Amino acid sequence: MPQSPAASSRSLSAQVPEAAAGKPLIAPSLLSADFSDLRREMETVATAPWLHLDVMDGHFVPNISFGMPVIKALRPHSKAFFDAHLMVSPVDPHLDALAEAGVDQMTVHVEGNWHLNRTLQRIAALGCKVGVALCPATPPEVLGEVLELVDTILVMTVNPGFGGQTFMPGQLPKIRRLAQMIDENEERTGRRILLGVDGGINLQTAPLVTAAGARLLVAGSSVFGQKDRPATIAALQAAACAGEEGGRSVEDVSARSPSMR
Ligand code: DX5
Ligand code: ZN
Repeated sequence: MPQSPAASSRSLSAQVPEAAAGKPLIAPSLLSADFSDLRREMETVATAPWLHLDVMDGHFVPNISFGMPVIKALRPHSKAFFDAHLMVSPVDPHLDALAEAGVDQMTVHVEGNWHLNRTLQRIAALGCKVGVALCPATPPEVLGEVLELVDTILVMTVNPGFGGQTFMPGQLPKIRRLAQMIDENEERTGRRILLGVDGGINLQTAPLVTAAGARLLVAGSSVFGQKDRPATIAALQAAACAGEEGGRSVEDVSARSPSMR
């Protein structure tokens, strides 16, 4: 019998305490790292408790990145929570191998995977946390029937496939709507779902998405494009906090981080 997410292994907040505290979490995306030196690149972002791993199949998205053997090779060298963002269709044939490679969460796309309920149940049964991702053209309401199975929702703020694209502000209402759905779901069930965004996150856009309700911010080029990654991650988190508090202006945060764009 497949387990429900609540019954599978430890809770998301136990694995990533920042998620429990409701603090914005910066998740570096390895897609923008130097692929000739992946292990060392990963070590430069070790201050972040969450690592985003973009798996692309050249079919669901027009690009191919890396897959299970690479993730498996990296796993022993990091303590971070490994979240595999699977831009793969169909994804079902690969779930067991991904669990075996040591990922902590699998984030699958609603688009291109017909039997989403079955897919999400299988991920939980494998002992992994369950993430779902929505492309920009997909409305938030498609998740209404699967919220009980989900630990993390990832809103794509670019069309998936490539790093370094420009943030789509048109996705902000969707983030707000999902934040509301998550609150309502928590009132009903007592279970908190983490809301994330992926694509075009930098010092300027981080406060916009946290003000809209996002708590997990995937950042590729804005982290790996800088030499001092720990300082960059800290600056992004400060910008994210500023958006959440709504108090300080984005310019204040940028002014305190001269190395940032
Ligand atoms: C894009 C990937 C993203 C990518 C984000 O399809 O899903 O995770 O790494 O890159 P940036 O942060 O550069 O937009
Ligand atoms: Zn991604």
